[in-house]
Amino acid sequence: MSSFNVLLLPGDGIGAEVAGEVEKIITWFSAQGIAKFELDRGLVGGSAYDAHGKAISEDDMAKAQAADAVIFGAVGGPKWDKVPYDVRPEAGLLRLRKDLGLFANLRPAICYPALADASSLKRDVVEGLDLLIVRELTGGVYFGEPKMITDLGNGQKRGVDTQVYDTFEIDRIARVAFELARTRRNKVSSAEKRNVMKTGVLWNEVVTRLHQESYKDVELEHVLADNCAMQLVRWPKQYDVIVTDNLFGDVLSDVAAMLTGSLGMLPSASLGATDVKTKRRKALYEPVHGSAPDIAGKGLANPIAMIASFGMALRYSFGLGEWADKVDQAIARVLAKGLRTKDIAQGSEKTIGTTEMGAAILAELKAAA
Ligand code: NAD
Ligand code: IPM
Ligand code: MN
Repeated sequence: MSSFNVLLLPGDGIGAEVAGEVEKIITWFSAQGIAKFELDRGLVGGSAYDAHGKAISEDDMAKAQAADAVIFGAVGGPKWDKVPYDVRPEAGLLRLRKDLGLFANLRPAICYPALADASSLKRDVVEGLDLLIVRELTGGVYFGEPKMITDLGNGQKRGVDTQVYDTFEIDRIARVAFELARTRRNKVSSAEKRNVMKTGVLWNEVVTRLHQESYKDVELEHVLADNCAMQLVRWPKQYDVIVTDNLFGDVLSDVAAMLTGSLGMLPSASLGATDVKTKRRKALYEPVHGSAPDIAGKGLANPIAMIASFGMALRYSFGLGEWADKVDQAIARVLAKGLRTKDIAQGSEKTIGTTEMGAAILAELKAAA
């Protein structure tokens, strides 16, 4: 039986609540003998700040570097609004992404049949939707230098962020997008703003060249990122794989979330390069949503994005694609049975909480075993 080291970083707010449901599923996988998961736990975000004065400790960073996969809940919250910028909760997540080299963030947006009416868009616009946003995750304006606020001395301050991309960063994320498109409907839409940004001009050039050289069999289109946002709410089914930079990917994936019914539905995988020798890649699995301070501590959070993120870990880190499919099917079945957390409920539909939803999905998995 394969054995994997998994580091669980629940984080803050609903992060801890949804991570608790995944932990039960991981424990069940181990007990069933499907794979052996050596589960370790650490602190990230505000909870790490409270314990160590940092958004993640060196010890937990070392554990993350050594793990086969990190399962991450969510970070942030009003309690830490005033802490110094360098140790704010989000810095823990950004450091994990950067130091682990997790440049490829896969954010699939699938509209489950039972939820076609839960979206804020009309049923025919979202029914059957299955698109994938491939977001560049370790570059761009998130990490570019200089990044600062300077005092201009005349009562004015200046805030500076730097959007910067090198050829290799665009090339490697575009390769991921083209490779994944080949396993899907064979179409890549590359979103940038070449009409305004030099990084957009380079992005367009590198993606076009790579397509010509290595992926002529894949359909490629270029779309301006603002138009892409509009197209996503107009007719999202035109898209298969969207590849885009760090900031546009952040915004476009929150838009895509609402096509599926709720931000509580969108999982993600953050992947590093595959090591040529070991064939392994560093990976962190994180729902797209945040710590949801407005519902934290109430047991209301939808755990599906977190559970589906573990499903992605089964596929991309543990070689258990069949079980990843079973996780997706278990989610589809509980939704088809009419089980709803508050965020995906319609009108007067009866709702259940985080633990009931987690338990229902685990029960479906057990039935499928
Ligand atoms: P958010 O994603 O936390 O919440 C946005 C809205 O969606 C809220 O109304 C929330 O209740 C709802 N929502 C989100 N996840 C849900 C779920 N699983 N079930 C039901 N409803 C859900 O975004 P925000 O309010 O802008 O940010 C709150 C904090 O989270 C901030 O500190 C932000 O920096 C942080 N954040 C963290 C991550 C992460 O850790 N990956 C991602 C996004 C935001
Ligand atoms: C996300 C989040 C993060 C981001 C924050 C919490 C740093 O919004 O994963 O989408 O901006 O990347
Ligand atoms: Mn985001």
